[in-house]
Amino acid sequence: MQKVTKAVIPAAGLGTRFLPITKAVPKPMLSVLDKPTIQYIAEELLSVGIEDVIIVVSPGSDVIEKHFGRADALEQRLLEDGKTKLYEIAKQTRRFNVTFVEQKVANGLAGAILCAEPYVGDQPFALLLGDELLHAENGQTPCIKRLVDVYEKTGKSVIATMEVFGDDVSKYGNVGVGDETDGIITVNGIVEKPSVNDALSNYAIIGRYVLSGEVMGRLKNLKPRNNEIYLTDVLDDLTRENKLLASCFEGERFDVGDKFGYIRANVEFALRSDEIKEQTAQYIKELAKGL
Ligand code: G1P
Repeated sequence: MQKVTKAVIPAAGLGTRFLPITKAVPKPMLSVLDKPTIQYIAEELLSVGIEDVIIVVSPGSDVIEKHFGRADALEQRLLEDGKTKLYEIAKQTRRFNVTFVEQKVANGLAGAILCAEPYVGDQPFALLLGDELLHAENGQTPCIKRLVDVYEKTGKSVIATMEVFGDDVSKYGNVGVGDETDGIITVNGIVEKPSVNDALSNYAIIGRYVLSGEVMGRLKNLKPRNNEIYLTDVLDDLTRENKLLASCFEGERFDVGDKFGYIRANVEFALRSDEIKEQTAQYIKELAKGL
């Protein structure tokens, strides 16, 4: 089976929900504690040894490129001052071999993926949506690792899924689920953001996928609906050919494209931080007394 060596991270959203900060700071650079969200997402790839990353950005996102590049003066200074730990932190992002590609027209997720086509061609690739952070605790398998393992075992495209309830089914791509063996679920239908009545199940697509080499070609040939092309249409075609699997992820998901999700991520990461967890816990306990 062909190994998965490349990843695509669509991160070109304008971040209008986060105005005014997103006027000058691209949304992927919003930080959870001290690290931009895009770096957390790239770091998920370390669990599978993928270092070739294509980040699809909106025009004017040079600061993201800067973040993944060298900071010579700063690194030099930290070394001279003997601050080796901070030096290591400053150069963490340099381990990735990142290609930046601009999505010039805001034509959705499939449009963003197609921007990466010249770099991916007909190879399989991991797809990680920029608005979601997935955190695996020790002992849990990182979501992307699980998907790569399933792909390399079966050769089939695989999506990460989670259970959602009530009106939430309409917020996500929805998965018709069939048999499950060893946590690998067969998929018998896909609909994008259905009404509650049209949902196939309680299983939602979350923003992690491993897609086989034929997916780019299929996206290219897809007929637009309402002037847009949809990844979900390709996934649905794969389903009909029995070429799509799903897997439930282990861990915690944070929707950092949403204000509450963003705050939640900051609070929970603070509670996991060796540096400030005790202070944060104490503060939250005090605060809760007055709520
Ligand atoms: C996209 C996908 C959707 C998926 C969601 C996960 O939607 O189209 O199928 O459930 O990501 O976050 P978006 O949130 O970009 O509208």
